Amino acid sequence: MRILMAASEGVPFSKTGGLADVVGALPQAIARLGHEVAVVLPRYRMTKLPEARTALASLTIPVGQKLHFPAVLEGPPLDGARTFFIEYPPYFDRDALYGTPEAGDHPDNPERFTLFSRAVLETAKALFPPDVIHCHDWQSAMVPVLLNTLYAGDPAFERVGTLFTIHNLGYQGLFPPDVLAHLGLGWDLFQTERLEFWGKVNFLKGALVYSNYINTVSKKYAQEIQTEEYGFGLQGLLLRRADVVTGILNGVDYAQWNPGNDRLLAAHFTPEKLEGKRACKKDLLAQFKLPAKNLDRPLVGIVSRFTAQKGADLIAQVADQLTQEDFCLVALGTGDAEYEQLFRRLAQEYPEKIAVRIAYDNTLAHKIEGGADMFLMPSRYEPCGLNQIYSLKYGTIPVVRATGGLDDTIEPYDPATGAGTGFKFHDYTGQALLDTLRAALHVYKNREGWTRLMRNAMAKDFSWDASAREYAGLYQKILGMGRAAGA
Ligand code: ADP
Ligand code: GLC
Repeated sequence: MRILMAASEGVPFSKTGGLADVVGALPQAIARLGHEVAVVLPRYRMTKLPEARTALASLTIPVGQKLHFPAVLEGPPLDGARTFFIEYPPYFDRDALYGTPEAGDHPDNPERFTLFSRAVLETAKALFPPDVIHCHDWQSAMVPVLLNTLYAGDPAFERVGTLFTIHNLGYQGLFPPDVLAHLGLGWDLFQTERLEFWGKVNFLKGALVYSNYINTVSKKYAQEIQTEEYGFGLQGLLLRRADVVTGILNGVDYAQWNPGNDRLLAAHFTPEKLEGKRACKKDLLAQFKLPAKNLDRPLVGIVSRFTAQKGADLIAQVADQLTQEDFCLVALGTGDAEYEQLFRRLAQEYPEKIAVRIAYDNTLAHKIEGGADMFLMPSRYEPCGLNQIYSLKYGTIPVVRATGGLDDTIEPYDPATGAGTGFKFHDYTGQALLDTLRAALHVYKNREGWTRLMRNAMAKDFSWDASAREYAGLYQKILGMGRAAGA
């Protein structure tokens, strides 16, 4: 099969979150199964692209009563998957990919990502005629919409099917109704059965209506999004299309995340030879300027976008009790000002045991996975979550809320049998978090039990192969289905 993927970020070129990890690894895993794969990404200021050739000098794309002329570059293949970049400096040569917490989203995001989606289709036509186009999140959600509207008469796409992956239903691409005309799309799309959503235009909804198949990144989240609690208002539509909604758990790339050979760590370790982890912990304490006397205390790590999704409000709720417990905390992240301030305040009040770095820092993210004893992820919702899966590999025991991919990947520790890989709680309350962290701290005191728990965690295998096979199965179903869908 020939699969074309479209996404707004991908490792090793650009990254703000887990989406990039998936888009960097899944195409390679599909290519390893013997399929032809290409990925199309925007070229941003941050895009690391040392060598690229011009594949198409200029596309002609109308957006906003104007013609735009982006170029298409071909980058280095990712282990068998081809890579293309839409180069259009007026839209993409900026510091922030989508916007900043201070200034908000870029106001021209609807134009930027509609241009990108059209450029994906033009790239497909000219350079890589696919069987299936696989789109990720709202930034490429207009691809299936365009296929069924402006490109509906185009014979090149007659038999092309679409898969849309939801990595996060919380980000939908909501814009005022007049963007439709501005983008050259018909007013007939502004109906509840199509893109209209509470008086706005909803890009993601467009993809949910017009794609042949829809999936999300864990089985549990695929169920959750069909309920009012997690559906962000789209549960009705998802329920209506339930026969084409599935969940496929993300894999992780152990070439990047493996304590046995991770070059960003101070020392290496394996399940058989765990000693290196202590050197990593020492290094981590030093990196965060916490006193070395903490070496024998449990060290809890956080790497996160500080947003409401990630459960920082639970930590805020019980901060006073938490800080009375005997452990150290290192947190790395950026995001909402109130959460950045919370961690800064805690670090100021407890300089001996709590430290925070407000930054996006891949090296430090690896050092936390390597050096911490536990990894805290109390998410309100979590489509998949990658950090807890990395944590397992590093013997850094996850303490998580049982939601989405966190629930699917972490098995609760059972002291009676010694089985399990972590600790999880169900209720979204600070008290539940506190109780569960206390339980973990209690088990930590029993060195034998804890070592067993670490080895259980490190033995888990979430490499991409199995998930890639599930995706290939989905592509197979979509093959030749042609234009969709729920429209
Ligand atoms: P999400 O995509 O919702 O942010 P995931 O757990 O799926 O959550 O993926 C987050 C990814 O982004 C991980 O690879 C993690 O290491 C990385 N990451 C998040 N915040 C930071 C940060 N402040 N510095 C470095 N890496 C980060
Ligand atoms: C999103 C989700 C996260 C998931 C990632 C990759 O950013 O928040 O849970 O792991 O996408 O699919």
